[in-house]
Amino acid sequence: MRFGVWKILLITAVSIATAPLAFAQSFTPSQESPEDYPAGAGREPTFYACTPCHGFKLVAQQGQTRQQWDDTLNWMTQKHGMPPIDGELRKTVLDYLETTYPPRRAPGGWQNPFSGQ
Ligand code: HEC
Repeated sequence: MRFGVWKILLITAVSIATAPLAFAQSFTPSQESPEDYPAGAGREPTFYACTPCHGFKLVAQQGQTRQQWDDTLNWMTQKHGMPPIDGELRKTVLDYLETTYPPRRAPGGWQNPFSGQ
């Protein structure tokens, strides 16, 4: 009987100790989704084009002109092996990046990750 009580205490202690870990894991980049970023035409295709290799946060931290975003896409393809983005899709992706992440950070270019969105 005494052993039973200790077991329950041990399990309780372990659960309390690991609870913050579970909380922290909910903020890992692998769990980000397009909804974490400002809405706009092309958000989903852009998000899914970039996130196989790195978090979209890396993209969202930048602010560039359309030309610079274009160069970035070339760079990703030439240096990092991103499948080329061509035609309509390239236009869609550049439209989203240019509108959402211009050189001067416009309102909405940054979103509070704790705003519950
Ligand atoms: C095939 C893999 C791959 C894909 C797909 C990819 N990237 Fe990257 N990207 C990388 C790697 C690797 C780095 C790290 C490069 C470095 O800074 O050394 C990087 C870094 C970046 C950076 C940071 C540059 C800096 O100055 O720190 C930006 C911005 C970026 N990528 C934009 C994009 C965008 C926009 C897309 C989607 C359209 C994209 N990437 C898709 C591989 C990829």
